[in-house]
Amino acid sequence: MLKSYVIRKGHFTNAQKKSYDTLYEKFVIPFLPEELDFSKIFGNTRGVTMEIGFGSGFATSEIAQANTEKNYLGIEVHRPGIGRLLWEIEKRSLENIRIIEHDAVEVAEKMIPARSLDAVHVFFPDPWHKKRHHKRRLIQSPFVLVLAECLKPGGYLYMVTDWEDYAVCALKALSGCASLKNAYEYFADAQGWRPKTKFEQKGLAKNHKIRELFFFRV
Ligand SMILES: C[S@@+](CC[C@H](N)C(=O)[O-])C[C@H]1O[C@@H](n2cnc3c(N)ncnc32)[C@H](O)[C@@H]1O
Repeated sequence: MLKSYVIRKGHFTNAQKKSYDTLYEKFVIPFLPEELDFSKIFGNTRGVTMEIGFGSGFATSEIAQANTEKNYLGIEVHRPGIGRLLWEIEKRSLENIRIIEHDAVEVAEKMIPARSLDAVHVFFPDPWHKKRHHKRRLIQSPFVLVLAECLKPGGYLYMVTDWEDYAVCALKALSGCASLKNAYEYFADAQGWRPKTKFEQKGLAKNHKIRELFFFRV
């Protein structure tokens, strides 16, 4: 599968860099091609939600702060974003987030045990809007099958995008996965508990419609 990202340089502020250097050891788990033991990395047996491509991690930290009885595993390749989430973790004294700085495809394939996750969040994945780049999109087959395998029965996959044709293709791919069931008839209702993300704000500024997709693991 083609990579769903290109590593952007981005601006690493001094605060992000400081958080990255000082908090990495405690909150970032190195990529290794072996299955994780969640109870070991979180120090408890609470359910785990994996978020793919958290960007600057604002929504991740808001959700984790509002749900301290749950664990959150954020996957991102953009280092300044990781620094930014680490900064939020420290500012908010969060204990229920861990991060992996690596390609989420490989993480899901190699590190996440089958039927181990309560949920997968994918908020505004890179749209790769040119037709010739569509093969780089994350939420399509065969990766949706891998994600479905990671979910516990009853767990959910929640994707949000502001790119209409990506939403339509993802709806088709998720509906075509035998182990997933749409919680709605078509697109999902807006989930009121989800904080607005940075990319959502950009989409809204361009008058894009926000599409939500919410599927359960059967
Ligand atoms: C368009 S941004 C959205 C960020 C954030 N969720 C938001 O809504 O503001 C997509 C993010 O996904 C990350 N990403 C894309 N493919 C990824 C992959 N395979 N593994 C980990 N992160 C990925 C990118 O680095 C980028 O930060």
